[in-house]
Amino acid sequence: MAQAAVAPGPQERYDLDANDDCLPLLQQWLGQFGNTFAVPSQTRPGNALFINDPDDIRRVLLTQRANYVKGAGLERVRMLLGNGLIVSDGEHWARQRPMIQPAFLGNATRAFAPLIQSVNEALLARWAKKATSGEVIDITHELSAVALDIVLRALFSVDFDRLIESEGKSPFDFLADESERDLQFAVRFRGLTRFVRAIIEARRTEGRVESDWLSMMMQARDKASGEPMADRALLDESMTMIVAGHETTGSTLNWAWYLISQHPEVERELHRAIAGTAVPATAAAEGGEPDGGSYVERVLQEALRLYPPVWLFSRRAVKEDVLGGHEVMPGTDIFISPYLLHRSAEHWQNPDDFMPERFEPASAQGRHRFAYLPFSAGPRFCVGAGFAMAEMAMHMSMVASRFRMEYLGDGPAQPEFQINLRTRHPILMRLVARH
Ligand code: HEM
Repeated sequence: MAQAAVAPGPQERYDLDANDDCLPLLQQWLGQFGNTFAVPSQTRPGNALFINDPDDIRRVLLTQRANYVKGAGLERVRMLLGNGLIVSDGEHWARQRPMIQPAFLGNATRAFAPLIQSVNEALLARWAKKATSGEVIDITHELSAVALDIVLRALFSVDFDRLIESEGKSPFDFLADESERDLQFAVRFRGLTRFVRAIIEARRTEGRVESDWLSMMMQARDKASGEPMADRALLDESMTMIVAGHETTGSTLNWAWYLISQHPEVERELHRAIAGTAVPATAAAEGGEPDGGSYVERVLQEALRLYPPVWLFSRRAVKEDVLGGHEVMPGTDIFISPYLLHRSAEHWQNPDDFMPERFEPASAQGRHRFAYLPFSAGPRFCVGAGFAMAEMAMHMSMVASRFRMEYLGDGPAQPEFQINLRTRHPILMRLVARH
């Protein structure tokens, strides 16, 4: 391999990680050293490498992907999710992904439209009362709860209602109520696996197959061995879907409604776009690419550009490589930030402005495919992306046809950069009925 130079970077030792302190440093170093820089680690030998050039990102996530495995920062996630799809790697991941993916393809996602619709109808009924009384609503909490309800019903269908009945309330409720993601939360969360185990056992005893993600996973067989998923894997994958599937969509909708409330011209266009469509036909719900079609989807794509929930993620190099003309030693942690990439003036005009029209096909033409990564890319592309886009578009169309939202916060909403990018404080809104 040709000799490559060590990447420039700061002298100080620092461990890059998804937390609030890290972002200003990354911004500072990006300005100082450009798109590729090395940061000496405090706890590991050698440097971590930050990359912000779409060609390098494509190399890591796609063309040389065999050289880049999951690594830094996953210890915290593993405590919550065990060895589920987000965390796993190698043979285990390669066996699991094809068994899970069919549950998220177009047809499967389309079949969940009535479920998504009915959860949102219940939300609209609750909100109608609040709109009449002028009650202030905490949409951050409400949207997290709606997103959680949808994943739990997509996973467990009738067994979720039975669980609520037997326990008096959903034992999963605290996931939307609690914002701390500490050790105590992890222990409590893992404690929920006993309910999932009980549902799996009940289905086996009764020989019952439902039209939901859990049954799809229980029915799935490994192509090579013909074996079903092990029980441990069923639990880990279920817990992964619950976490990955609700915080991300809840947070995207939270930011999207905030952004709409700050941009009357976008709100007007949204109302025009949904006029006359009871429930939208989204490209995603039709089984197409999630970057297809409607104005509603463009609003969501633009919210995901400005506030991608997964704002920082990493890979670990197995063997040496060269990125951006700089050497990569085996074991190097590579960091990619969709947040910083999505706000790079090299790829986006007026990058800090909220402009859904930038996702119109004509404007998107010529943009680097790897300059927009809310769902990552390559074989580890978010398995739930199509479902998430369909779910969010349906929610947005249903809500926007009934209500407008008036933002009640003092000053602009502040982002909080933890494992997920959320608003630092709950977003408070007043609902105004539209007709
Ligand atoms: C707006 C919503 C969502 C966003 C922004 C999002 C984002 C992401 C990102 C960036 C990754 C890749 C992480 C990496 O490569 O290190 C990912 C992976 C994943 N996501 Fe999502 N996600 C969303 C919704 C969902 C939903 C609804 C589900 C399932 C119910 C889901 C399940 C997963 C799983 C299982 C993986 C791991 C895939 C693999 O490595 O094979 N996500 N997501």
